This record gives sequence, structure tokens and C-alpha cells, in this order.
Amino acid sequence: IMSRKFFVGGNWKMNGDKKSLGEIINTLNSAKLDPNTEVVCGAPSIYLDFARSKLDPKIGVAAQNCYKVAKGAFTGEISPAMIKDCGVNWVILGHSERRWVFGETDELIGQKCAHALENGLGVIACIGEKLDEREAGITEKVVNAQTKHFADNIKDWSKVVLAYEPVWAIGTGKTASPAQAQEVHDKLRQWVKANVSAEVGNSVRIIYGGSVTGGTCKELASMADVDGFLVGGAALKPEFVDIINAKQ
Ligand code: PGA
Repeated sequence: IMSRKFFVGGNWKMNGDKKSLGEIINTLNSAKLDPNTEVVCGAPSIYLDFARSKLDPKIGVAAQNCYKVAKGAFTGEISPAMIKDCGVNWVILGHSERRWVFGETDELIGQKCAHALENGLGVIACIGEKLDEREAGITEKVVNAQTKHFADNIKDWSKVVLAYEPVWAIGTGKTASPAQAQEVHDKLRQWVKANVSAEVGNSVRIIYGGSVTGGTCKELASMADVDGFLVGGAALKPEFVDIINAKQ
């Protein structure tokens, strides 16, 4: 087995202000964090500079979205070049809220992914089925198709983390069971091995997101193909430290 560095992303979404985010940043900066975990905090775009300037350099920062070109008349958008200019090295793409609240398509998400990677950002590539899709037994088909749209736009997988986030688990308090997460992660890894390469399949981090808490993280982290987490609500609380330190 090839060792994959445990990866824990916090997704602050559209929450907090300089005061409250400053507090969570202070908590992270002064906590004892497992040096074997890569930690990245996803800040609102207007706070990227703030987060980067306050967070300890060993903690990464991610934008929560970006556009597919470098610059131009695209009111309200930000480019990977601007993100990098703030010293920020990651972007979250394809989050279910971008897909289902803002109507982003697989095609657009793929274009964003290609452009972000070309400009040197790491990409947290999010996929996940909705409840009706799980109940219809098409989870694997849905997440494979979403992964293919990313894969078609990825030349270098070393800067990509795949985030499996079942939509029914996000913000609902209904964490996927460790067995449910492991089953999908295993299938995703098999898909990457078959459709990209065995090497990438073995090395790519597949992280789980959806109502991860300090209480659920350890058992999930013990699953063979769960290489970390993408955390929303709990990333705004001190228990995020426990999640970072979940891997035994
Ligand atoms: P949650 O969000 O942890 O609040 O469910 C996870 C995510 O949307 O990345």
C-alpha cells in the first residue's frame, strides 16, 4: 500500500466575519496538529487575503470557487491568478452547493478545473449523489460520471484531491456510515485505476464530506480508502482540531 498523506479541508462556506474567523484561526494556530495531516481552510473570497495573512503558513488556504479564465468582463468572478496573488494555493470546485444552488454544470466545472490546474492551483474536486439517486441505486454511476468530467480536464493528478460528498449528508447531520463511505471510496479508486492509471488510483487522496464531526471522524478515518475529510459546519468550531487529528 502506498502511503497517502491524510488531508483535512475546512469549508467555511459563506459564514463568519473577521472576528469569528480570526478566533478559529487562532485556535488552529495554537493547537497541536498532527504533522502527518495536510490542512487547508476554504475561506470566502473576500477573506482569502485575511485568512492567508493570519493562518500559520503550515496551514493551507483554499478559495471556494473560481472562474475558468484569467481575467476579463466577468462581474463578480475571481480567477486562479488572483487567488494565487493572495498567496492561496487551493480551490474547491464542483461543490454540491455550486452545482445545485447555483446551477453549475459538469462542463463548466471541468473547464474551471483545467484552468485552475494550468495556473498552479491545487483542486479539491467535489462529487456526490443526491438522496433520490442513492435510493434509485445509481450512486456509482452518478459519481463515476462526475469524476469523468473532472478526469477529462486533469493532466496532473498530483495536485488533485477527490472529495466524495453525498448531497444527502451535507449540512443535514446525517453522516454517511463508515461502511457507506468506504464502499463508494473503494469504487471511486477502482474507477480511477481503470480509467486514469493504477498509479494515480493508488496515490490520489479520496476524502469524505458530509456532516463530519469530532464524534464521527475517527471511525471514518479508520476506513482503508478514506484519506481525509472536507468539513463544513464543524470546521467553524474548535472540534475541527479533533478532525484534523482523527487518523490514528
Ligand atoms: P457539512 O458540509 O460538514 O456542514 O455537512 C460539508 C461540505 O459541504 O463540504
